[in-house]
Amino acid sequence: MSTAKDHYDQQLASIYSWMAGTPEAAIKRNHDLLRQLGVNTSQGVAIDLGSGSGFQSIPLAELGFSVIAVDFCEALLSELRDRAGNLPIRTIHDNILNFSKHVEVEAQVVVCMGDTLTHLESLDSVQSLLWSVNGVLATSGKFILTFRDYVSAELQGNQRFIPVQSDESTILTCFLEYRENVVDVYDLIYRKEGDRWKLTTSSYPKLRIDRNWICDRLEKSGFDVIQNTVINGMICLVAEKP
Ligand SMILES: C[S@@+](CC[C@H](N)C(=O)[O-])C[C@H]1O[C@@H](n2cnc3c(N)ncnc32)[C@H](O)[C@@H]1O
Repeated sequence: MSTAKDHYDQQLASIYSWMAGTPEAAIKRNHDLLRQLGVNTSQGVAIDLGSGSGFQSIPLAELGFSVIAVDFCEALLSELRDRAGNLPIRTIHDNILNFSKHVEVEAQVVVCMGDTLTHLESLDSVQSLLWSVNGVLATSGKFILTFRDYVSAELQGNQRFIPVQSDESTILTCFLEYRENVVDVYDLIYRKEGDRWKLTTSSYPKLRIDRNWICDRLEKSGFDVIQNTVINGMICLVAEKP
């Protein structure tokens, strides 16, 4: 079992954007989702925690924000910079738990989207992140979280084999194994080399985060939860700093 960081550095970074289909489609989907969650054209600072290759950072910059994109995978940040061109996006290569050390200004929006939250090591780390976000947000600022529900909908038997993406030279299948507080995620990647297929496997744990637990923690950390929905299988929470 790898850490999430090793898994991204050694296995997922090279295929992350391919996994999502086309990057253009992923950016458009997130643009629409951000608007649906109440983020409209604006000025000010937005912080993207676990930005990956920029599927939220780019739409946020296009909407008018100055974006700070934080991720511990340098390969994905490099891809983000290439994709961003002249958009106002600053990348920070660090653990999202340290993000506030790099931020000197108040933010109007902080996002942690696309299931990044479940990559943290413990619920204590999630709690610590909520406090840090509250510390940097401006009054009326919004904190947007989207993550997968690994608690209420436990996949059973063969359902745990998930075909993620494939083309003529690469096939990615994911397998999930549920434990009490985490789900172990196994990524099986077949790559075509000449006329043979080569398999690489890697696994890492994801946190099982209960939706009611995190809403309670958000409220106790000084937020009002103003939206709590499920969109495309992801729990979507919008919390506001009153
Ligand atoms: C599932 S991807 C989501 C990326 C992006 N938000 C999206 O929706 O495409 C999770 C991202 O978070 C990063 N990540 C996970 N845990 C992290 C941590 N503790 N600190 C910094 N980055 C982290 C990974 O490197 C990866 O880029």
